Amino acid sequence: MKFLTLKDMALENKRVLVRVDYNVPLKNGIVADDTRLEATVPTINYLLEKNCKIILMSHLGRPKDEYEKGKSVEDVKRELSLNPVAENLSGILGIDVVFAGDCVDIRLPDADIILLENLRFHDEEEKNNEAFAQKLASLADVYVNDAFGASHRKHASVHAITNFLPSCAGFLLEKEINELSKLLNPEKPFVAIIGGAKADKIGVMRALLSKVDSLIIGGVLANTFLKAKGVDIRKSKFDEESLQHAKEFIGNKKILLPVDVIVADRFEENADSKEVSINKIPNDWMVMDIGSNTIEAYKEKLSHAKTVLWAGPLGVFEFKKFSSGTRKIAEFISSLYAATIIGGGDSAAAVEKFGFAEKMTHVSTGGGASLEFIEKDGKLPAIVALEEAHGRFKK
Ligand code: 3PG
Repeated sequence: MKFLTLKDMALENKRVLVRVDYNVPLKNGIVADDTRLEATVPTINYLLEKNCKIILMSHLGRPKDEYEKGKSVEDVKRELSLNPVAENLSGILGIDVVFAGDCVDIRLPDADIILLENLRFHDEEEKNNEAFAQKLASLADVYVNDAFGASHRKHASVHAITNFLPSCAGFLLEKEINELSKLLNPEKPFVAIIGGAKADKIGVMRALLSKVDSLIIGGVLANTFLKAKGVDIRKSKFDEESLQHAKEFIGNKKILLPVDVIVADRFEENADSKEVSINKIPNDWMVMDIGSNTIEAYKEKLSHAKTVLWAGPLGVFEFKKFSSGTRKIAEFISSLYAATIIGGGDSAAAVEKFGFAEKMTHVSTGGGASLEFIEKDGKLPAIVALEEAHGRFKK
């Protein structure tokens, strides 16, 4: 791909605006998982070595959705402020990260590292508004995109902004692109696992089916496929929209579905549970995990793989009782002599939780972005914008 990277730029003593993806979970106003912060440290340290003034910007959550739920502006601005993230980042870097109260129309504090307020507090961000991008650009001399997780969005801070500043990719974005590009021309056999609680993955399934040797399905998507095949999944979650599309994949020999499952009488950690074949789900019960025969069948398929992509847990892994399928498959993948790539989001959280993250080839910081990267053959809007910006500005 043809875009500039940090090492192509003359950065000494410059003001650098860095788009990061600090869309992290907060619990009681404290960062609950700082993986995405840690992932940007190499870029920040490199810029500090070059004596740059660093202005970090990010989105956090989806303020629009919160307003739709009826929350007040004050509540949303308090709950989705990036202020706690600035504190956490200061701790990681051992340097003061000064929080700016807004992201545009402000006088920047005099500091080496500044974190701007949530970009999505301004509607213009998601509208890819040029004037808003220009205001952001006016804060700095150079723009760096290190927000892989947000690069599938055509938003002002990752797209329009490249019209107004010399622009390049940060180390994290570069690494994500290099690692995920291996999936575009994978070493075979290539086995992908698609699971998770959201079943909106039909687009990526279509793209994957042309590349993979086998496609293993779990989670809500598996329930949806079983239902499409006529299995009575009782009270299990499924996705109505994907159900229509699922029918087109039935009979595809590459697709593997569960043959047995762990079911529960309610969606709770201490619900009654048992293992049953998919045709014996009791009335009013629901699927919570894959069963032991399914785990063995999935492992057998994975054992031949030279490339593995995993996006989405295979069951409700947050509840210990229903985490076995996800944990055992994570452990098995981590032991393979294969390129093992974990799409971000919940599967990244799962491999981290079970202690296998270090053994994987790459754990992406992007959830939706990593899947769209494969679906669109690497052509995410923010990456295309960087490519188009290449050459438009002098270094
Ligand atoms: C993510 O967490 O996947 C990214 O930060 C993108 O967030 P979004 O789906 O709200 O755009």
